[in-house]
Amino acid sequence: MSKSDKIIKRDMRILSTSMTRDYPYAFKKGRGCYIWDEDNKKYLDFAASIATMNVGYTNPDVVKAIKKQAEKGTHCAFPDFYAELPVRFAETVLGNMPKPLNKGRVFFSNSGTESVEAALKLAKWAKRGKYVIAFDHSFHGRTMGALSMTFSKPVQRAGFAPFLPVKHVPYPYWYRMKMEPEECSQFCLRELEKTMKLLDGECSALFIEPIQGEGGYVVPPKSFMKGARKLCDDYDILMCDDEVQAGCWRTGKFLGIENFSVTPDIVSLAKALGGGLPLGLMIAKPGLMKWPKSAHSNTFGGNLLSCAAGLATLNYIKKKKLGQNAVRVGNYIMKRLNEMKEKYECLGDVRGLGLMIGMEIVQNKKSRKPGKAEREFIMYKSYENRLIMLGAGTSVIRICPALNITRAQADAGLNVLDKVFHMLHHKK
Ligand SMILES: Cc1ncc(COP(=O)(O)O)c(C=O)c1O
Repeated sequence: MSKSDKIIKRDMRILSTSMTRDYPYAFKKGRGCYIWDEDNKKYLDFAASIATMNVGYTNPDVVKAIKKQAEKGTHCAFPDFYAELPVRFAETVLGNMPKPLNKGRVFFSNSGTESVEAALKLAKWAKRGKYVIAFDHSFHGRTMGALSMTFSKPVQRAGFAPFLPVKHVPYPYWYRMKMEPEECSQFCLRELEKTMKLLDGECSALFIEPIQGEGGYVVPPKSFMKGARKLCDDYDILMCDDEVQAGCWRTGKFLGIENFSVTPDIVSLAKALGGGLPLGLMIAKPGLMKWPKSAHSNTFGGNLLSCAAGLATLNYIKKKKLGQNAVRVGNYIMKRLNEMKEKYECLGDVRGLGLMIGMEIVQNKKSRKPGKAEREFIMYKSYENRLIMLGAGTSVIRICPALNITRAQADAGLNVLDKVFHMLHHKK
């Protein structure tokens, strides 16, 4: 039995059965956009540990910063005692935010779901409306508040009712809804307005992902994001932007929503922010975060090790201009995937921004029926050829590697994909 298999056997005996593991490998170490399993097999990682390792594994700047801070202290209960490092980190994040959020306030959390939970609480505290609006196929996390909004896979909600009062409306997933992008955008805006009208005076916020992540890497038309912003203003509802997956320059800009020239009222961040350490933030526009002492807090917020790693991560991305690299390599990957789309019947749609790219796998292009078995085949064969990817939605495969991936590394992964698509094509 291989070392990985032995670990997996021990894991399966005692770990929660709720986790989603697609591949039978056990992580040993990582460097850049490569990982090695316990049997020393090397893989190219197009998943970056769920779009988190934006600066690559064991990034030297991040490792150095963690080591240096570990010598001084890892935790100081920042929510209860002052410290300089979390303040510097928060200032640095604000420095990257669009106006007027750059003059706003920051709350520290430890994960994506907690950053969303904090946004939900602040929105309710500020507006006092019992409802919020969220989207079909959205994913905002799994704690009860965030889960009440999450509407991605049925299994994520089954058995956990009752939920908080949330109304769900359609997100412009035009490919699946079999509409033209603009037609779908207008349809979804009409549905959104209907719901806002219905909840008038009772709704605190609209929660929105700038690109739906777990729901299938769905890029909305620009008109939809702009229309949603306008409706929030018209109905006096806070626009809460969930940037947990799209943020931190993954789409080229610090926030994914900046690609749509829209400014939200509240932003939730996590994943890539801590360079591999647990770190999340909720940021509110000026004047909003006025809640009193003890209204919301935690133990680990502003953790010193996470802040040291986070600061090194942000500085590294800026120094190396990784946002620009994400756009450059992302566009190249999209170009090659679009070429493959012409060749292979199962590749129905290719979409994305920067290095947040989704491939919609279908049974055939005409029916657009989700190609679930086809996706499984592609992912498993790619894994056997040492390429790691993650699924999203019903039949999407996402490509979200480290932002410092080179074109040559991208080509290596794309060549594997081409080979696997070819195998699938000739299997049928
Ligand atoms: C958009 C979005 N929001 C929230 C979350 C929840 O983050 P976490 O798993 O860190 O709680 C995720 C996780 O995938 C996400 O993609």
